Amino acid sequence: MLLYTKGHDLTLKSFLQECRNLIEVCRSPADCVEALSPLMFRLLKSKKNFLQPQHFRSHPDRYERNAIYIDTDDRLSLFSIIWLPGQWTPIHDHGTWGLVGVLEGVLEERNYIRVDRQTSDADEGIDLVRGGKTMLAPGSVTSFVPNPDHIHMTGNSDSQQRIVSLHLYGSAMAGFNTYSLETKSRQWIDVACNQPLR
Ligand SMILES: [Fe+2]
Repeated sequence: MLLYTKGHDLTLKSFLQECRNLIEVCRSPADCVEALSPLMFRLLKSKKNFLQPQHFRSHPDRYERNAIYIDTDDRLSLFSIIWLPGQWTPIHDHGTWGLVGVLEGVLEERNYIRVDRQTSDADEGIDLVRGGKTMLAPGSVTSFVPNPDHIHMTGNSDSQQRIVSLHLYGSAMAGFNTYSLETKSRQWIDVACNQPLR
């Protein structure tokens, strides 16, 4: 059941409700990102006041993740991420499908391709080569699906301006694998976030 009318601005509440409705009928991660990408695109085009001041919190030493919504069954989460100049993720994967939409600034993505045989789940012997680069301007939406995992790093190359982006995942996204090109290994880390204010 659609909870919004085409042509009208989405609210966060209607966006999240429609996401929950859609993932109920999606059979695969690719189905999810295909169904939800236009919805994220519409949300970005809505009036920019759908976010609250708490969603714009930043940190001087690292990119800041502000949880907007995390469901109780580990199937959907939405974060705002604030990237100050020079702030980047490590090289990482996701283990789930995801959508990234940009509200403010230009988010840079550097992709990596895994080229070893992947014959086991070992965390060693992982060969990555550099892949493509994407520049995501305000209003842009990109997406990815797992298996094989999408491996990349994202961040802010701009020396002046902050970046505000929205990240929607098919899990709670409380952690991910980080990759080292030097040691050809990966390591699971928990990823912190600011919890929603009540
Ligand atoms: Fe990522």
